[in-house]
Amino acid sequence: MRTEELIATATALMAGDKGLLAMDESVGTCNKRFEEAGIPQTIEYRRAYRELIVTTPNLGRCLSGAILFDETIYQATKEGVLFIDILKKAGIIPGIKVDEGTADMANFPGEKITEGIDGLRQRLVKYYELGARFAKWRAVITISDDTPTKANIEANMHLLARYAALCQENNLVPIVEPEVLMDGDHGLKKCAKVTGKVLATLFKQLEKQRVNLQATILKPNMVLPGTRNSKPVSVQKASKATVEVLLKSVPATLAGVAFLSGGQSPAEASAHLNEMHVKYKGKLPWPLTFSFARAIQQPAMDIWRGDDKNVKAAQKLLYKRASLNNAARRGEYKPEMEEKLA
Ligand code: G3H
Repeated sequence: MRTEELIATATALMAGDKGLLAMDESVGTCNKRFEEAGIPQTIEYRRAYRELIVTTPNLGRCLSGAILFDETIYQATKEGVLFIDILKKAGIIPGIKVDEGTADMANFPGEKITEGIDGLRQRLVKYYELGARFAKWRAVITISDDTPTKANIEANMHLLARYAALCQENNLVPIVEPEVLMDGDHGLKKCAKVTGKVLATLFKQLEKQRVNLQATILKPNMVLPGTRNSKPVSVQKASKATVEVLLKSVPATLAGVAFLSGGQSPAEASAHLNEMHVKYKGKLPWPLTFSFARAIQQPAMDIWRGDDKNVKAAQKLLYKRASLNNAARRGEYKPEMEEKLA
């Protein structure tokens, strides 16, 4: 393990007003989003879409890192330039999703466990050789009347910690992503309670597995009511709840926090991130940034629709969305900026 290199990578990922782009959708998830947007679900369309993303002009001004998927890390532009090389040239650190998705957890109906720990060490060695410098593993936690169970939280957080230890052994910065899903009719308080429990368990497990927090990034959900909860919650209230949960459960030595968007609209995700910076500027022990997938990509995908003639317009939207999140990181985002975007 090269600790200095790991800490330097983690610090670079969290630097300035930049953030991360998750472009690591599995084949299944990418195809599902393509289907919704009316785009053919083939390997060539997935390649073309990822080419559109990585060749977006000036993306390196907005992003410190981009998370790839196994299929994507080997892919190249039509001219044959590897995506990973394009990212590096743009000053964007390449990362890789290394979990193998989720499966039903035996004996725990309605709960998921993340797969992919077997053979992970060998895969990490290969990804480092290919140029990846950080990795991501996602656990999903479901809120319902009977879930999450203690067993599900513990099993998922244990796996996250084992993954993180293996990453650091192989000089990749681990992004640990314990996502409490927005699905459900639960309120803000319930999400705060569950997220707090999940994070407390995660950091206990990380300590047990001797993971160096200075070289670890947390990718949590924001604290929000479930998508089927009809009680509106203000941006201020949700942002406050999110930061309060983090302050209670996240050690100060952590390299940083990079939020997932989790199904919020792009504007909501930016507004929440912005509010956290406005209210807590200089008061938090770790930097806060974005590691969004849908909240950066969706408008671009919708306008592209698989058609070459829409590539430029889609890239413009992708760049603007990423730069709005830079503004949010500076605490300078305003909803009026969305109109300019339109
Ligand atoms: O694992 C999920 C992605 O990395 C984040 O996706 O921002 O669309 O929730 P999202």
